[in-house]
Parts: sequence; structure tokens; C-alpha cells
Amino acid sequence: MYKYSIFIIHIIFFVIVSTKLYPEDIYSLETCNIPEEFSYINQNEFNNRYGSEKYLAKPVVFRQIPIDKQFLNLIQLDSILRRYGNKYITVTTANTYSYKKQYIKLNDYISLQKESPVKSKWGNETLYWFGDDLLNDQKWLHQMLRYYKPPPYAVGDFFEPSLNFGMGGTGTGVPFHFHGPGFQQMIVGRKRWYLSVEKPFFDPNETTTEWAIEKRFKQ
Ligand SMILES: *[C@@H]1O[C@H](CO)[C@@H](O)[C@H](O)[C@H]1NC(C)=O
Ligand SMILES: *[C@@H]1O[C@H](CO)[C@@H](O)[C@H](O)[C@H]1NC(C)=O
Repeated sequence: MYKYSIFIIHIIFFVIVSTKLYPEDIYSLETCNIPEEFSYINQNEFNNRYGSEKYLAKPVVFRQIPIDKQFLNLIQLDSILRRYGNKYITVTTANTYSYKKQYIKLNDYISLQKESPVKSKWGNETLYWFGDDLLNDQKWLHQMLRYYKPPPYAVGDFFEPSLNFGMGGTGTGVPFHFHGPGFQQMIVGRKRWYLSVEKPFFDPNETTTEWAIEKRFKQ
């Protein structure tokens, strides 16, 4: 009887690689080698194709999954700021270890995110709203997430998802970390994920953008 985490991450834009610096990467920016599904398959098919009996299941990308209209309206930037701009959210530094937590008003966080693309190459100096507020019983987030429909799957013993919600600006994200079964859905914007079976070469304090520019091709 476990719970698994679902991160609903809403990123305005996630720039990873400067194509001017790495013209050869233009093509790889467009490709993803993870299998894709274009609608929710049933649990049996899901188990067969992605091996969910074991925790080391295969990753899959679902595309074109419809999103509840009411939920979509609630999380529009102007709507969420009008309703909840004065609420405090928990942000963490975007480094692998020593996550430093800070409480900040949603209004102030969004202003910071809009100011400019990532100012520091250090993840330990970059604040990111990555969830965990729900653990602090934030009623307003619970109210919003009531309208969100999670994917209809159990993964092994994990069948009752807990929900997380976050937003971020250009270039934000979290560095490599280990994860149990989880599902992430982009609601607005885009975001790039890097998955690796082996531990990649990276500085736990640098941002993922920095890693993608500086280290990705230097393994
Ligand atoms: C962030 O990490 C870098 C590299 O580890 C370090 O030089 C810098 O002082 C750190 N910043 C803070 C605010 O701790
Ligand atoms: C990363 O940053 C933290 C906090 O800023 C610092 O305590 C730690 O020494 C840094 N780690 C490395 C490997 O530089």
C-alpha cells in the first residue's frame, strides 16, 4: 500500500541547449527515443508494454491527453495569480542535495521567474517551485487539484497517487535525481527530460541548463 508521486510540472519554457553553440544538436532537440502512446491504453496493455510489475519499468510518453477544462482554466497564470497570488508557496533550490527550502508569495515568485532567463548557473542559487506544498496541507492547491484527472494506472503496488503542482520560467528545472514510479504532465509550455540508467557526469550544484550546455556532450 504505497503512494507514488505525480508531479504536474508547468513550465513556461525550458531552454536547454543553445543551437548557436551546438548546431549539431538541432536535430537531437527534436527527437525523443522513448516510446509514445497517443491515448490511455488499458492497465493490461500498460503492464505488458511497460513492465509495471517491477519498479524498474520502462518509461513511456503519452501525447495528446485531454486536460479537464475547469482545471485548465484554474491554472491559467492570470487566474491563479488573481485567486492565489498572496498565498505562500514552498520553493527549493534546484540542486541535487541540500535542498534549501524557502517560503515566498506566489506573486513574488512569478515576478522573479519572469525577470530574465536563469541568472545563475548554480542550481543551489536558483529557486524553483517543485511541489511539496501539498504535504503542508495547502488547501487552495488541494482545491485546484480536485479537478485534475491522474492517469488511470497502478504501477506495481503503487496505486494511489499523491499530487504535486509547480510552475517555473525559462531554463528552470531540477538536476538529476533518483525517482520511484511517477507521472509528469506538462499543462502549459514545454520541458525537456533526460533519463539515464547510469549516473551521468554532472555537478550536483549546477542547473540542468548549464549541464546540457557544458557537460552533455563531454561524457
Ligand atoms: C553554490 O555552489 C557553488 C559550487 O558548488 C559554490 O561556489 C557557491 O558558493 C554556492 N552558492 C551558495 C549560495 O551556497
Ligand atoms: C553545493 O552547494 C551547497 C549549498 O550551497 C554547499 O554546501 C555544497 O558544498 C556545494 N557542493 C559542492 C559539491 O560544491
